[in-house]
Amino acid sequence: MSQVHVIDHPMIQHKLTIMRNKETGSKDFRQLLEEISLLMGYEVTRDIPLEEVEIETPICKMTAKRVLGRKLAIVPILRAGMGMVEGLHTLVPVAKVGHIGLYRNEETHEPVVYFCKLPEDIQDRMVIVTDPMLATGGSSCDALSMLKERGCKNIRLMCLVAAPEGVARVQKEHPDVDIFVAAVDDHLNEDAYIVPGLGDAGDRIFGTK
Ligand code: PRP
Ligand code: URA
Repeated sequence: MSQVHVIDHPMIQHKLTIMRNKETGSKDFRQLLEEISLLMGYEVTRDIPLEEVEIETPICKMTAKRVLGRKLAIVPILRAGMGMVEGLHTLVPVAKVGHIGLYRNEETHEPVVYFCKLPEDIQDRMVIVTDPMLATGGSSCDALSMLKERGCKNIRLMCLVAAPEGVARVQKEHPDVDIFVAAVDDHLNEDAYIVPGLGDAGDRIFGTK
């Protein structure tokens, strides 16, 4: 069974509260999502591979550790997942970025794929899938399946807010994928929105409503 890591550091909770507030506009919403992504990135990359390098400090030679950033890929689920890429890229600037385009059909709530462009060597990389919202889990599960079809074995899912229903679905369909979230909310409403949630993340990031 995959693990659910709730990263509820006080600074993350504080920033998330501002994001949830309906009075918060797109500019601040985007900025806060980027900041939280960077902070969550510390935990998500906790076991990122390291290599040893020989360096010389002003005092002596030493064997030191260096991040194998070239072994990482960030894969946002479009559109809203894009809002989490910059923060992770600040941590690991050489990580490659793939894109998976999915939107939820408004009536059925089922995800529809419209785009997929991934690094050629994606199967050799540790992959961080980003999407602020884990609601029914349909979009995340489909994205994870697409990555596994391309041979990815080391995948983790980084979200901001999850519904218990979405967490349960990812755990059932992808028991090998750990989930990192800032909060697990109460439930889904009849429109499959997270309650209390923060509304439509894509629209709030891009100002489309
Ligand atoms: C939202 C969100 C997730 C998905 C979550 O995307 O960003 O991708 O819904 O819902 P699920 O867990 O029930 O699949 P949306 O389809 O609204 O597209 P957008 O990011 O382009 O706005
Ligand atoms: N997608 C969103 O953007 N928000 C929700 O609450 C559910 C799905």
